[in-house]
Amino acid sequence: MREEVPDIEPETRAVGDTAAAETTDTTPASLPTYTRSRFLEASTIGLGAAIGAVVTLPVLGFMVLPSFTNLEEGEADLGPIDNFPKGTFVIATYLASPTAGEVSRRTAFVRNNGPAESGEPSFTILYNRCVHLGCPVQPNGPIDEAAKRDVNGVELRSVLAQSFGCPCHGALYDAEGNRQAGPPVRSMDRYTFSIKDGRLVLGELYAVGNVSGTGANATISKYPWSTPGTHVDGVEAWLYPIVPSQVTG
Ligand code: FES
Repeated sequence: MREEVPDIEPETRAVGDTAAAETTDTTPASLPTYTRSRFLEASTIGLGAAIGAVVTLPVLGFMVLPSFTNLEEGEADLGPIDNFPKGTFVIATYLASPTAGEVSRRTAFVRNNGPAESGEPSFTILYNRCVHLGCPVQPNGPIDEAAKRDVNGVELRSVLAQSFGCPCHGALYDAEGNRQAGPPVRSMDRYTFSIKDGRLVLGELYAVGNVSGTGANATISKYPWSTPGTHVDGVEAWLYPIVPSQVTG
């Protein structure tokens, strides 16, 4: 006798079961993709911003920095005027442009003349570049090396000098910078100056035809600065208005 076959129910699946199966899919989600054009667009914008920063930041620095240093363009702070004793030349060596470094190192002979008749401070500030061909002029007198000081990057050395000489071709200048002997065609160049917060600040360089009188009572024939070898006054200034050094730089 054959065994009775059990009833088999048909397979069914509820709708909710299908949704559950879909949410449990473990396949990793695909990552976002970028086209080449979007990459080039972003690169161009980034590169443009970098170039803009490189060009703009130094300009902003030069515009903003004077507000913090209290200096105009081209000025040089030589420190407190107390560092310059009355009646004595001090050799001041400094960087005209700290950002440019050693190529901008300059030397000036600074003498505190004491107060002028007006009561204003008076300084004689000679540039050490010879006005013949530009060699460094030296003070004729002993330098007090033992008293050498460095004040915020400005080197100061006192010197007992009543004249200045150029070793290249034998020029001799007196204590006011007037030519006494040798080939220079004018007096030594000078700096304008101002006193800011008790500090001596060098201004622009100017050429000098001749100086009469001394110190605070000197009368100075001033001219716009010109290269060494250039006449600034007299008939020679008309006969030789341009010298080769101005043409060749
Ligand atoms: S460069 Fe000074 S005398 Fe010639």
